[in-house]
Amino acid sequence: MNGEQEVDVRLTRVPGLLFGGDYNPEQWPEEVWAEDARLMAEAGVNMATVAVFSWSRLEPRPGEYDFAWLDRVLDLLHEHGIAVDLATATATPPPWLVREHPEVRPVDANGTHLDFGSRQGYCPSSPVFRAATARLARTMAERYADHPALAMWHIGNEYADHTLECFCEESARHFRTWLAARYGTVDGLNAAWGTSCWGQHYTDLDQVNPPRKAPGPINPAQVLDWRRFCSDALLECFEVERAVLREVTPDVPVTTNFMSILHGLDYWKWAAAEDIVSDDAYPDPADPTSHVGAALSYDLMRSLKDRPWLLLEQAPGAVSWREVNVPKPAGMMRLHSLQALAHGADGVMFFQWRQARYGPEKFHSALLPHGGVQSRGWQDTLRLGRDLEKLAETAGSRSKADVALVLDWDSWWGLEAPESMPSKRLELKRLLHTWYDRLHALGVAVDLAPPERDLSSYRVVIAPNLYLCTEDQAKNLRAYDGHLIVGPFSGVVDAADQVHPGGAPGPLRELLGLAVDEFWPLADETTQTVRHADGSAGTASVWAEWLRPEGATPIAHYEGGDLDGIPAITRHGRTTYVGCLLEDVRPVLDDVLTRAGVRPVADLPAPGADLPTGADVPAGVEACRREGVAADYLFLLNHGTTAAAVNLREPGTDLLTGRDLRGLIEIGPRDAVVLRTAHEGEK
Ligand code: GAL
Repeated sequence: MNGEQEVDVRLTRVPGLLFGGDYNPEQWPEEVWAEDARLMAEAGVNMATVAVFSWSRLEPRPGEYDFAWLDRVLDLLHEHGIAVDLATATATPPPWLVREHPEVRPVDANGTHLDFGSRQGYCPSSPVFRAATARLARTMAERYADHPALAMWHIGNEYADHTLECFCEESARHFRTWLAARYGTVDGLNAAWGTSCWGQHYTDLDQVNPPRKAPGPINPAQVLDWRRFCSDALLECFEVERAVLREVTPDVPVTTNFMSILHGLDYWKWAAAEDIVSDDAYPDPADPTSHVGAALSYDLMRSLKDRPWLLLEQAPGAVSWREVNVPKPAGMMRLHSLQALAHGADGVMFFQWRQARYGPEKFHSALLPHGGVQSRGWQDTLRLGRDLEKLAETAGSRSKADVALVLDWDSWWGLEAPESMPSKRLELKRLLHTWYDRLHALGVAVDLAPPERDLSSYRVVIAPNLYLCTEDQAKNLRAYDGHLIVGPFSGVVDAADQVHPGGAPGPLRELLGLAVDEFWPLADETTQTVRHADGSAGTASVWAEWLRPEGATPIAHYEGGDLDGIPAITRHGRTTYVGCLLEDVRPVLDDVLTRAGVRPVADLPAPGADLPTGADVPAGVEACRREGVAADYLFLLNHGTTAAAVNLREPGTDLLTGRDLRGLIEIGPRDAVVLRTAHEGEK
C-alpha cells in the first residue's frame, strides 16, 4: 500500500523446486486422503495448494467454524513431507453470506445481478465481503500460524477470472471516492475527462457513474479510469487480507495466482504487493505455437519482481473450459513444465491433484486421473517428479537479458478501448508477439519492463506500442542511451486519454525525429508493401501511418497504394520507429540486435560450422539460460515433433540424464536437455 515499506519475505520452507498442485480433499471421502498423501509422497510432491474454494466448508454459518477436517489434512500432508500453500479460502463467498447480504453479488453493465452457483460471486467494492474475508483470513492465520506444513499463503484465486468489475451502487460510490482522490474536484474530473464533449459536464462528483450500458459509445476517459479503478479495487481486496496475514504471520510469504498476460489487472502494481509472483498458464495443446505465448508470460512473471517465480497452476493434460479440450500428447506436460523452469520458475504445480468426479471440472485433467495409478497420466506425474528432483540445484538461479520489451497497462487499456478508436484490430498482444516471436526463435533472452523503470542495463529496448505516453515516461525513454525501437501509434495520448498537442508522437516527437501526419489503418484483408533500404520487401497489415520525418532518416518506404513513397520505418540516432504493424520484423530487429551486440543465450552453430553464426536455434527448439552461484544452466527444449540436431559449443552435463555432452547432439521430439555448464565468469 502507499507509503508502506516493502518487506522481503521468501519461501524458505521447501528446498529445491516445488512440485504439486491444487488439492481439494473436501471433494472426497476421508478414506481417500491417506491414499492421496501416500501417492503424493511417491510422486515426489512437496507442496499442495489447499482450501482455495473451501469457505462454505470452513465457515458453514456466520462465525461458526469447522476447521477439524482441515487440521487433519494439514497434519496428514505434513506427516508425508508435503508443505502447504494455504489459501485463505475467500475466492468464493458462501451461500449464507450471499443470502444475508444479497448486495455482495456482482452486477453487470446491464444492471443484472449475477447469482450464486458458480464461483467468485462477489462485488470487489463490497465492505461486507471485504470484512468477511478479513475475518476468515485472521481466523485461518491465527489457527495455522504455527502449523509446520504452512509454507505460503494464497489469497483469493485468479483475481478477475470471473469477476473483474461490478456496476452496482456500492461500486459506483467507491468509484467516485477513487475519482475524488485522483482529481480532487468535479472540475478536475471535467477537465480530465473532456466532458464538454457530448454534453457530459458534471456539477457534482455524485453524478458520476461507472460506465454502465449507455445508448452509444461511452466517454473513453471514463472507461480508462474505470479499468484503472477495477484493477485497484480488486487489489484492495487482496491487500485487506494481506495486511491481516502480515500482522499474524509476518514470516510466511504471500502470493496470489496471476493469469499470465491479463488485460484486466496491472500486474506491475499487483506484484509489488505480494512476496512471490505466481502464475497459472494454460497453453492450448491444439495450437503448435502456444509455447511461445507461454514463454512471453513466463518472462513477464520473472520480470515482475526480477526474481524466480512459481508456476502455480497448469493442466497435466486437457482443460475443461475450451470449446474443444484437446489433451496433451506424450511428453508435452513434462516439456511445458521444464519450459517454466527455463524461464525462471522455481516450481511447477498443477490444477489439480486428483481428478474430480463431479462439478464443472470433472473432465479437467489431474496429476492423478480418474484411471488412477494405471493411467498414462500417472506415469507422467511420476516421471516429472523424478526429473524435478534431478533439477533441484537450479532453484534460485537467475536469468539475465539484454533486451527488454516495454509493457504498460494504462497504455494497453487506452489502446484497446472498446469503442471509438481508429481500428479495433490493433491489439497489444499481437504487437508484442511480432517482436517477441523473433527474439524467441533466435534464443535471445527477454525481460519485460514498465516504461518508467531504469532501462540502462539493456542493450535494446522495444516498446511495441505506447499509445498512452506521459511526459515522464517519454523522459525516461529519452534518457535511455541504448538502442530503442518504438512501435506504431505511440505517444498519442496523455494519462487522461487526451491527444497530445500537435498530435502523435507527442512527447516522443523529438526522440523519434518525426511527426505522424495521419493514421492509416488498413482495411481487413488488405496489406501494404514495405520496401526496406536493402531492397527486400515486407508486408504491413492492420496499421500504417503517414509519417513526416523531422530529422529521422527513412529506412523503409511504403510501395504502391495510397501511401506509395511515404516512409514506413525511420531511424533517428539509435532510435528506430516502425509506423506500421510489420508482419516480419527480421530486417529491422536483426539489424538492431547486431548493432547493439546482442547475442543469443547460447552459441549453437549450424552442424558443420565451427564458428558461431548467430543463426537461429533450430526451428522449434527453445534456448534459455539460468545463472546459478556455482554453475549456469542451459535449457534446450525441443517443442517439435521430430528430433532436432543441436551443435553445442559449450560442453556440459545434462542434469536429466547425467550424460556429459559436447558438440553435435540430438534432442528427441518433445524432449529437452538441461545442461550444467561452467559459470559465466569461468568460461
Ligand atoms: C484456473 C483456476 C482453477 C481451475 C483451473 C482449471 O483458472 O484457478 O481453480 O479452475 O483454472 O483449468
